[in-house]
Amino acid sequence: MIKARISVDKYNILSDVDPRIYGSFIEHLGRAVYEGIYQPDQKSADEEGFRGDTLELVRELNVSTVRYPGGNFVSNYKWEDGVGPRESRPKQLDYAWKVVETNEVGLNEFMSWCKKAGTEPMMAINLGTRGIQDAKNLLEYCNHPSGSAMADLRIKHGYKDPYNIKLWCLGNEMDGQWQMGHKTAYEYGRIANEVGNVMKTYDPSMELVTCGSSGYYRNTFGEWERQVLMEAYDVTDYLALHMYWKNFDNDTPRFLGETVELENYLVSAIAACDYVKAVKRSKKKINLSIDEWNVWYHSKEQDKRIEEWCRHPHQLEDIYNFEDALLIGGAMITLLRHADRVKIACLAQLVNVIAPIMTSDTGAWRQTIYYPFLHASTMGRGKVLHTVVMSPTYECRISDAVPYLDSVVVENEEEETLTVFAVNKSLDDSMELVCDLRQYADYAVTRHIVLEHENLKAVNTEDNPYEVVPHEGGVSKNDNGDFTAVLQPHSWNVIRLTKKK
Ligand code: AHR
Repeated sequence: MIKARISVDKYNILSDVDPRIYGSFIEHLGRAVYEGIYQPDQKSADEEGFRGDTLELVRELNVSTVRYPGGNFVSNYKWEDGVGPRESRPKQLDYAWKVVETNEVGLNEFMSWCKKAGTEPMMAINLGTRGIQDAKNLLEYCNHPSGSAMADLRIKHGYKDPYNIKLWCLGNEMDGQWQMGHKTAYEYGRIANEVGNVMKTYDPSMELVTCGSSGYYRNTFGEWERQVLMEAYDVTDYLALHMYWKNFDNDTPRFLGETVELENYLVSAIAACDYVKAVKRSKKKINLSIDEWNVWYHSKEQDKRIEEWCRHPHQLEDIYNFEDALLIGGAMITLLRHADRVKIACLAQLVNVIAPIMTSDTGAWRQTIYYPFLHASTMGRGKVLHTVVMSPTYECRISDAVPYLDSVVVENEEEETLTVFAVNKSLDDSMELVCDLRQYADYAVTRHIVLEHENLKAVNTEDNPYEVVPHEGGVSKNDNGDFTAVLQPHSWNVIRLTKKK
C-alpha cells in the first residue's frame, strides 16, 4: 500500500471558492443547443421548447455560470440573427464548424433557459469578424432599460426587462489561426482594449475576460499574454485560458499526470499577468478564467466524416470513460488549489458536445465525468485550505515526478463541514492517506464517496447509464483528529467530515 499525507491548518486559508469555478459552456455547435437544451418535439420539452430532462440534470450539477454562444462559433456570429420573430430569422453558414445555423435559438431564448437552469450567463462577443459598434449594440440590447434603439428593440421583441449581464468574454481564442478574424497579439490587445473601454464606460462594474492562450503548447503562450495585457491590462479582469487533454496513445499514467501540466500552465499564466502588473506599476490584479477545459479526443476521427453544411450533426460527441473522470477530478482539484487566482472555470461543454450530459430523442444520461464535477460543485463550496500534499511520485513522459495523490481540502463554516477531495492515480496500489486534523477533532466522517471501476475504459451509455457511478462507504475515519483513509487504486474520493452535534 502506498502511503501519503496531507497537511492543513484551519487558519491557513488560501481563498474563498468563487462559485463561478463551477461554470460550463454551451456553444452553437453540434447538438449542444439543438437536441441538447432545445427540442420542442421531445417529450420532456416545456412550452418554450427546452428539454426538461436536460434542465433537471443541469440543475442537479449545480452549474453556476454558462458561457455562450461560443467558442469558435462566436467569431462569425451575428447576434441580431438570433433575436426577433423566429420566422424571420435567417439561416447562416457557420464557417467555424461548417454547418448551417438556423438561429431558432438566440440570446433571448438562452437567457430564459439560464433562468430555468438556475445559472448565470457569461456572454461572449464576436471580435473575429466584428468590432466595437456591434459590441456596443449587443451590450445595449442586453443591459439598457429603454430609450435607445437597441434597448427598444429588445422590448419590441417581448423582453421588457434588461438582463444586466455583468460577465463578458472579449472574443474567443484569438491566438489561434483557426479562429475567424484571428489576430496578432498586438492587434487583439488593441481591439480588446477599445471594446473593453466602451463597455466599462457604459458600466464600470462590468467584468471582462480577455483571451489568453488556447493551450499550454501554443508556441505563443507567455508572449501572447504579455503583449495582449500590455495593451489591455486596464480593462481586463480575467485572463482566459483553454486546455484540452487526450489519451491518444493509451498511456494512462501520462494522461492522469496532465494535472501537473495544468498546474504549470496556471502558475505561468499568473506570472505573465503579474509581470505586466509590475511593468505597469498597476495596483490591479488580474485573475484567471479557465473558460474551456476538458478531455477532448474520442470523437476526432468520426467528426472527419461529417457532411459539410448540415444542421446540428453529432459533432464532438466524446463518450467519456472512467479514466477521463479521474483526470477531470484531478483537474478540478488543481483548479481549487489555485482558487486564490482562478475565479472562473467552464467545463467545456455542458450537453452532447464534449459534455457531462448526453441526450437522445428518448432521454438524457450522465457521462462518467459528470460525477467529479457534481461532487466538487455541490460539496466544494466555502474556503479552500492550503493543502500540502506529501506523496510518492512516478515518472512518465511529461514529468519525472507526478504525485500519485491529488488532493485539496475545502471547509464550509456555515455547514460546519470539511471536505477532502482526493485522487489516487496509482493503477495498482491502494493508498493510505493520513492527516493531522486535531483542529477538527470534533468532526466525524459522515460520507466517503468513491468513484472506481476495474476497467479504465468503462463508459456510460443510454442503454447502460449506470456502469460507472459513485458509491458511498469508502474506508476512512477521524479518531480525535487522527484522520486516515484508504483510497482504492485509480479512484476518485470525496470524504466529508461534519462537526459532531
Ligand atoms: O469547445 C470546442 C472548441 O474548442 C471551442 O469552440 C473553441 O473555443 C475551442 O477550440
